[in-house]
Amino acid sequence: MNRLSNKVALISGAARGIGECTAKLFANEGASVIIGDIDYSKCKKTAKKLQKEGHDCLAVNLDVTKESDWKGTISEINSKYKKLDILVNNAGIYSTVPIENTKLDDFNSIISVNLTGVFLGTKYSIPLLRNSDGGSIINISSTAGLVGNSGSGAYGASKGGVRSLTKYTALQHAMDNIRVNSLHPGPIETEMLADKLSNLESRSASESKIPLGRIGTIKEVAMAILFFASNESSYITGAELAIDGGLTAQ
Ligand code: NAI
Repeated sequence: MNRLSNKVALISGAARGIGECTAKLFANEGASVIIGDIDYSKCKKTAKKLQKEGHDCLAVNLDVTKESDWKGTISEINSKYKKLDILVNNAGIYSTVPIENTKLDDFNSIISVNLTGVFLGTKYSIPLLRNSDGGSIINISSTAGLVGNSGSGAYGASKGGVRSLTKYTALQHAMDNIRVNSLHPGPIETEMLADKLSNLESRSASESKIPLGRIGTIKEVAMAILFFASNESSYITGAELAIDGGLTAQ
């Protein structure tokens, strides 16, 4: 089924992990996909592969912390498509450093990528999303944006900020027919958690806290992103969804 036919979707942090998986899924669902990341060469590789399979795909060099990159990306999308239907604010960086040991520069850079990046992406995409007949912004937060843990306060604060920004954006743009929702994955098998999950002891410590008893997959997150991107979720805005095997239900 082509749930995203005629839709134009921009995904940040799409060179690997959840973003790359989402880009591939969206392409297979009929969307024109713009793949943005600081790893531009990987973006181009993925775009080339998808184009070879017959999909419409564009790679962009996008550092989400840079206003000029967002302006350039949006202007390129405007020239090519004249509209944007879906924005997935997915780019993110991780930390496990507790608050007392976090350097100010590190705190600022986590906020800059994870929260300011979402703000800039939202701000510059809104005019093009208005040209859609039903825009959707999906902000990738985390369970760390819903509850606290022993890890990084900077990461948690950035993801909590994303949750809140989502609701403000949803309310301010409901009249534009732009829906905005946040997704809150628990631990997912990607390079972001590679160090933690390659250590068997810390992997089983993580798994033991999860009611479903396992780490999630990128496909499981991408399927939820697809739901929020598609018209199947047309009456959902300002909502938050945990994709965490029951972790935050406890
Ligand atoms: P990943 O580390 O595999 O991929 C993140 C991507 O973001 C990379 O391609 C990286 O180059 C890109 N990126 C980093 N800084 C950037 C910047 N300034 N501008 C543009 N792109 C940038 O991570 P993963 O797991 O795929 O994470 C995707 C999102 O999901 C992140 O926002 C992360 O915080 C969130 N998340 C991940 C979880 C997990 O367990 N893997 C759990 C909860 C949330």
